[in-house]
Amino acid sequence: MAFDPAIQRKIMGQFATGVTVVTTGGKAGLHGLTANAVASLSLDPPLVLVAVDKKSHSLDYFKVNRCFAVNILRLDQEDISRRFAASGPKIFTGLSILSIVTGAPILANCLAYVDCRVVEILPGGDHEIFVGEIVSGDLHGGQPLLYHAGKYRRLAD
Ligand SMILES: Cc1cc2nc3c(=O)[nH]c(=O)nc-3n(C[C@H](O)[C@H](O)[C@H](O)COP(=O)(O)O)c2cc1C
Repeated sequence: MAFDPAIQRKIMGQFATGVTVVTTGGKAGLHGLTANAVASLSLDPPLVLVAVDKKSHSLDYFKVNRCFAVNILRLDQEDISRRFAASGPKIFTGLSILSIVTGAPILANCLAYVDCRVVEILPGGDHEIFVGEIVSGDLHGGQPLLYHAGKYRRLAD
């Protein structure tokens, strides 16, 4: 019998993470989603991955645009996280965009970012895993927005 997904959520929700908004842009247009299933995968070559739910609208945008940027959010960007966690068209107007190189918008004032071109799309159950090669990135510093047990959190110190 398959493991109970509600219990899996609760267990894995104990794994405290940062919060990112993964953006994309290009032929399909601008889109993005809030994501914490993000990891640094390889240093040589420089790869990161993001797991995207097959039900997510973002999937088709990522596939057509072949690029994404992982914007690691700052503590004061919870509103942006909530905005990109709502399914459907994403409003970019009013958001400060630092730059667009690959096509994926880099959010101004984020803690750090990597801008990637998609090099592989792997199956991952009810998700698809986008592997991106980093073409540029930078860090700006500040306090991170955290997520734990279904709630936004902050560092204790
Ligand atoms: C903290 C947090 C982390 C999330 N992480 C992911 C993730 O890693 N992958 C994913 O597909 N959805 C994730 N989601 C859910 C998406 O943000 C949400 O389904 C969003 O509505 C997708 O938008 P779209 O359908 O327009 O692509 C997360 C949501 C929150 C609040």
